Amino acid sequence: MAIISNCNASIIKDAALALKQGHLVAFPTETVYGLGADACNEEAVARIYQVKGRPSGHPLIVHISSIELLDKWARDIPEYAVKLARAFWPGPMTLILPRTEIAKDFITGGQNNVGIRVPAHTVALALLKEFEVQGGYGVAAPSANKFGAVSPTTSSDVASELAGLLSTNDQILNGGPCSIGVESTILSCTTDKPIILRPGAVTKEQVENYLEYYINSNLNLDDQVKSSGSFKSHYSPIAKVFLNGIPNLGDGFIAYSHVKTPKGAIRLASPENNEEYAQVLYSSLRLGDLKGISNIYVIPPNSNGIGAAICDRLIKSSTKL
Ligand code: TXA
Ligand code: MG
Repeated sequence: MAIISNCNASIIKDAALALKQGHLVAFPTETVYGLGADACNEEAVARIYQVKGRPSGHPLIVHISSIELLDKWARDIPEYAVKLARAFWPGPMTLILPRTEIAKDFITGGQNNVGIRVPAHTVALALLKEFEVQGGYGVAAPSANKFGAVSPTTSSDVASELAGLLSTNDQILNGGPCSIGVESTILSCTTDKPIILRPGAVTKEQVENYLEYYINSNLNLDDQVKSSGSFKSHYSPIAKVFLNGIPNLGDGFIAYSHVKTPKGAIRLASPENNEEYAQVLYSSLRLGDLKGISNIYVIPPNSNGIGAAICDRLIKSSTKL
C-alpha cells in the first residue's frame, strides 16, 4: 500500500480499477479523507468495517459523481431534497433518503434509508466519474480513521492511522489537506422537512434561507438512527479534551489566535476565524497525540457558520464514556 500523489488520469484509472476489483482506496474530499470501497461489493464493504474496527450495522455514505445518479440509489425523493442537491452538490452535504434495491443492508445497516453525497474535490470527483465509467454505481466511504478516532484531513494522517491495516492492493490517494476539515452536514430527508443529523459546512441557516422555512436539528439520534457519528464518544484523540478549562503545565491548548496561551501550556493551534478553526481542528488534536500530551484544553469558537459543526465535534470529543 502506497500513498499516491500527482493524481493524473492514469492514476485515477488505476484507482478506479482497484475499487472495481474489490480493493480499498482512501481518497481526499473537501471535508475529510474517506476510505472507499465499491458500494455494491459486500466483501469490499466488509473490509472497510474490518480496517476501521467499526461495529457492523452502522450505515455508510455512498459517494456519487453527480445528481444524475441519485435515482439509482434513492426513491421517493422529496422536492426539497432535489432543490438542496442542486444548490449544494458537489459539496459538504449528505442526504439521507429512502433507498432503492441497489442500496443493500450492508450499506444501510438494514435501514430503509441510504446516505448519498457528491463531494467537491477534483480527485474525488475524477475517481467517482472513472469508477462509473468502469461500470460502478457508487463508492461507500466513511472517514478514513479507526472507529471513534479523529477524522483524517491529510493523506499522511490516513497512512499513520491505517497503513498497517491496508493490504498491498489498497491505495491512498493524496490530494493535499482538506479545505473544510470537518465532516459533511447530514440532512435526513424522509419527512416533510429536512432534519439536521450532523452539522457541517452547509449550515442550518443556509438551508433555511434556501428553502425559505425553518428546520430542526436532531443531533442525538442514537436510539432512532444507528448513526455512529452521533455517538457521544466520537471524534476523540488519545488525549483527554477539556472545554473552556485552565490548562496546567504541559497541557495542550487550542483557541482563536487573539487568545493568549496560558503559562506553561503548549499551543497546538491559533486559528484566525471559524473556517480556519475547522481546517486545523483535527490536525491540531492529532498533533497533541503526536507530542504525547495527555490533556488538551480548547476554547471553542462561536457558533456562527461552521462554528456550530466545530462545537458539535468538540462536545463529542470531550465526552468520554
Ligand atoms: O464528510 C463526510 O461525510 C465524510 C467524507 C469521507 O465524505 N464521510 C463521513 O462518513 O464522515 P462517516 O461514515 O465517518 O460518517 C457518516 C455518518 C455516520 O455517523 C453514519 O452512521 C451516518 O453518517 N449515516 C450514514 N448513512 C446513514 C443513514 N442511512 N441513516 C442515518 N445515518 C447515516
Ligand atoms: Mg467518521
